[in-house]
Amino acid sequence: MNQPALTEDDLHHRLWMELQRATNDRHHDWRTPVLASTGLDGFPQARTVVLRSAERAQAKLTFFTDSRSPKVAELQTQARASLVFWSKRLGWQLRVSVLATVMTEGAAVEAAWQRVSQLPAAGDYLSTAPPGAPCTPEEVGVCPQHNLCIVSAQVLSMDWLALAKEGHRRARVSADSVAWCVP
Ligand SMILES: Cc1cc2nc3c(=O)[nH]c(=O)nc-3n(C[C@H](O)[C@H](O)[C@H](O)COP(=O)(O)O)c2cc1C
Repeated sequence: MNQPALTEDDLHHRLWMELQRATNDRHHDWRTPVLASTGLDGFPQARTVVLRSAERAQAKLTFFTDSRSPKVAELQTQARASLVFWSKRLGWQLRVSVLATVMTEGAAVEAAWQRVSQLPAAGDYLSTAPPGAPCTPEEVGVCPQHNLCIVSAQVLSMDWLALAKEGHRRARVSADSVAWCVP
């Protein structure tokens, strides 16, 4: 059975619309992508993060983390990283190649902290010891200064895979082109 035709513009629009939706909808599967970076020892490192913003005009995705976490040192050493999204509802996987920049201070970081500090998640950015340091659960102290930073991921290209009974589809998507390819 034929699937509805999807133009290059449609695909760009749908991808960024779903990414944007994921930042507002706690139940959207794309809210929690896996971020893959290169560990300081050269091994791949992958972990889940919460997608905080998706700006099509700037081709930029952001997430928050603790500036002392290992992923920050990794991204500062090797900015090339990948974000992988899977949505069961859409049947879509999206692999996004990015260049990451870490922002540890400035108006955007303080605005983000103003919002996060009202939430239970605030504690994630207030531990006295850095994330990953050995401790017992009772031992996690609270420090007065937050360690929230914003990681800005500049999108270089995307690999879209759509699974469907009628036939899978795949495309390599960059800012100005869409190349359809064999799934
Ligand atoms: C659903 C989910 C969402 C998460 N969101 C974030 C996040 O937005 N930022 C973050 O730093 N860690 C987040 N984490 C924790 C990370 O996956 C990871 O365990 C932690 O950041 C340590 O990573 P690192 O040692 O590679 O720096 C999340 C974990 C889960 C399960």
